[in-house]
Amino acid sequence: MGEDLFDGVPAQKIEIAPEAFILPRFAFETAARLVTLIEKIDKTAPFRHMKLRRGRTMSVALTNCGEAGWVSDCRGYRYEKLDPHSGKAWPDIPPEFIELAEQAARSAGFDGFLPNACLINRYEIGARLSLHQDKDEGDFRYPIVSVSLGLPAKFLFGGPQRSDKVKRMILSHGDVCVWGGASRLCYHGIDPLKPGEHALTGAVRYNLTFRRTSEISG
Ligand code: SIN
Ligand code: FE2
Repeated sequence: MGEDLFDGVPAQKIEIAPEAFILPRFAFETAARLVTLIEKIDKTAPFRHMKLRRGRTMSVALTNCGEAGWVSDCRGYRYEKLDPHSGKAWPDIPPEFIELAEQAARSAGFDGFLPNACLINRYEIGARLSLHQDKDEGDFRYPIVSVSLGLPAKFLFGGPQRSDKVKRMILSHGDVCVWGGASRLCYHGIDPLKPGEHALTGAVRYNLTFRRTSEISG
């Protein structure tokens, strides 16, 4: 158990690897507001299925908010200042998002996390994210903060090598996962989303991942 207090309840902290934690239901109270804000972002920067370098299309739909957004196309992965869909800047990160990311990072032992990029993933039934590292940020001093909303998903978390043993755990609505330090470059992914219906999101899982990137093109 962690020592932090969240809404008067001692916040639970599950260590899944060195300096990697799940904070169960950490975002539960603000979840409905987060979903409303995601729907608002979708109106200016709509969810889209990006292409991977080798030509396949991602099953996960994504959008971004912040100073830079993560994009993928035939040239590979990178952070871009402008949304390639509109040619305009990505929407700002809502203050509620920043506050949540900062508090979650602090609860996991990473003080002073100020994200400048937030990738928003939308999983429909069957969508998955294969094992990968988050390594396009150029600076690995800052953690990754990931917020799960809507349908539950099976999260895979391995080590710094692709061949390292992978742990599997369920991430449910409101759960937050934080990894940094020794685990910052750990491989992770999401198994195909199982059919279901969530009161707030329908047949969808959203995931917010907060990052601080120093590598911004465009
Ligand atoms: C990601 O690795 O970008 C997202 C992980 C998740 O959806 O939980
Ligand atoms: Fe990732």
